[in-house]
Amino acid sequence: FADDGSRLWLKYDLLKDTQQRESYIALTKYISFTHDSPIVATAANELQLGFEGLLGKKVSFLRNISGKTGGIVLEVNSDGASVQNLADDGFAINHLKGNIVISAKTPSGVLYGAFELLRNIQTGKNISKIAITNNPKVKIRMLNHWDNANGTVERGYAGSSMWKWTELPFRIDPRYIQYARANASIGINATSINNVNASSRFLTPEYLEKIKAVADVLRPYGISVFISVNFASPRTLGGLKTSDPLDPEVRKWWNDKTKEIHEYIHDFGGFLVKANSEGQPGPQDYGRTHADGANMLAEAMRPFKGIVIWRAFVYKADPNGDRFKEGYDQFKPLDGTFDPKVIVQVKNGPIDFMPREPFHPMFGAFPKTTLGMEFQITQEYLGQSTHLTYLAPMFKECLDSDTYAQGKGSTVARVIDGSLESHQNSLMAGVANTGSDVNWTAHPFNQANWYAFGRLAWDYNLSSEQIAAEWIAMTLTKNKTAQDKINTLMMQSLPVYISYTYPLGTAHMMGEGHHYGPEPWLAKSGRPDWTSVYYHRADSVGLGFDRTGKVSNALSLYKPEVRKQWGNADECDLNYLLWFHHVPWTKKLSTGRTLWDELCFRYYDGVEQVRKMQTNWESLKNEIDTETFENVQGRLKIQEKEALWWRDACVLYFITYAKMPIPAPLVPPA
Ligand code: GCU
Repeated sequence: FADDGSRLWLKYDLLKDTQQRESYIALTKYISFTHDSPIVATAANELQLGFEGLLGKKVSFLRNISGKTGGIVLEVNSDGASVQNLADDGFAINHLKGNIVISAKTPSGVLYGAFELLRNIQTGKNISKIAITNNPKVKIRMLNHWDNANGTVERGYAGSSMWKWTELPFRIDPRYIQYARANASIGINATSINNVNASSRFLTPEYLEKIKAVADVLRPYGISVFISVNFASPRTLGGLKTSDPLDPEVRKWWNDKTKEIHEYIHDFGGFLVKANSEGQPGPQDYGRTHADGANMLAEAMRPFKGIVIWRAFVYKADPNGDRFKEGYDQFKPLDGTFDPKVIVQVKNGPIDFMPREPFHPMFGAFPKTTLGMEFQITQEYLGQSTHLTYLAPMFKECLDSDTYAQGKGSTVARVIDGSLESHQNSLMAGVANTGSDVNWTAHPFNQANWYAFGRLAWDYNLSSEQIAAEWIAMTLTKNKTAQDKINTLMMQSLPVYISYTYPLGTAHMMGEGHHYGPEPWLAKSGRPDWTSVYYHRADSVGLGFDRTGKVSNALSLYKPEVRKQWGNADECDLNYLLWFHHVPWTKKLSTGRTLWDELCFRYYDGVEQVRKMQTNWESLKNEIDTETFENVQGRLKIQEKEALWWRDACVLYFITYAKMPIPAPLVPPA
């Protein structure tokens, strides 16, 4: 049996266990709803589709159940007892008077409840006593597409853009609907459709008409659309002399443009802005601040519901500075000056989506600014579409980090959900990994990262294992032993990837431009803080970037408790060691090995672990459909080859500084 992966985790194949199927059938005799909203209709249709596939029967809609029992009731109820503890998108699922009732305050809540019920059935849960009350932790759960008007995707590894700009608005690719379903099933409620390195084109009437067509498709799934804007648009598109945010003409241009957008998309989500970063235009071009720029757009958005998301990913090319500190330093004086409609979107770590980064020091240090999280789901530095790397543990490591901003327990998660500093709004964004490939993400396991991002944006307390378990059961196999094996494989995958690429807290040693394989020797680049040697600082003494008070003192941006945790090389978690310390090659680490031996050990062990992953995958041959099995099998072979490439490139490069032999048991057989 072959499966091309296009259905993602929404497979709805007939449940093989007849008894189990019968038990579900008895509880799903009809679907009843009275609320007249396209989103509730979406929920009802999805349930019907799901039941038809999973249970093999067409369940009809009823408006009035008049005392009937054994069905599903969808209820939007703004003030009843059942919704008392619910947030806007939250839902409750309960057995009431013989029916399974999904209730919510809003149509979107009902939709999320419907998907939760389907997930329960897809993963074989007993729903006869179902009693769930579930609220999202974060309000805006968003994908950021880095898709360009010409159909390419910046850092996309699954074909070209899924948005067919040349066909829109006249042809609606059915995949937009599949995309909307997939997102709604995991609670994603917003999407920015174009690259943050934005073309002004997206603000032309020609493109607004196309974006409107996409927004119309996504709306019944509870998803609002954002546009990434180019800050110079008043000049490049509007023909003005300047794009200075304090210029009245410029402000008027944005006000008018924002009004115009709303004529196409009445519920427009808002703007996403990358400004004064990597050559993009911004307010600093006119001697203004990020806040001046963001607040001007917030003012344009004032009559409307939408917001402005302003990215904090900024740095300057200073070979003697520490890029780690740039975002913090540029934004810190602006804390408290942003309009309430502005969310500042911060990458999880201070550099740039490295496989492991300490949490960004802005988290916990900006009490007066609403900070949103930006994760990267697309695996720019994490094996792109060939290495199996499950990212939930990475997202969680950041979210669970304690900033100590208001004492113990001030986690990054509590900063971004708004609870720590009482912010009304909250945002978790993920840079999308979707493309035109039939299975959306090229590597079948990359689908799990899209899935995990959505689930964690909804509830960051879910464990990585639980999320993996759901995804595996819905996507790959119903066989329990196989599920457990795959779960273990996924949970090992990130540490394994880090071992053969960036062990012990190394960072940014990838090939220039494509960011794929290793290039630790890279010493010259267009930007001085984009070389590898800038980051690893290898010399005859040792390895690592000293960020203690002796050199860059980036550690001082964190609270004393965090400084303490990372500030002493003897006590620092080895996973973060070289992020903060320049460690002598000969220094004995807590593992009992010297730095050099430990580094070699990790590179070599990483390769061995990939081989184990291959063997484990082979053992699943009879439990996974052939197409997916062979797809992953082939990619694991590439992964092994490239793990060797990383290992040999890095070990043989660093040996020129360490000048010590590779420890004996690690020498590969002749
Ligand atoms: C990275 C990435 C760029 C991207 C940038 C961003 O630097 O390599 O392609 O534009 O991040 O987040 O803006």
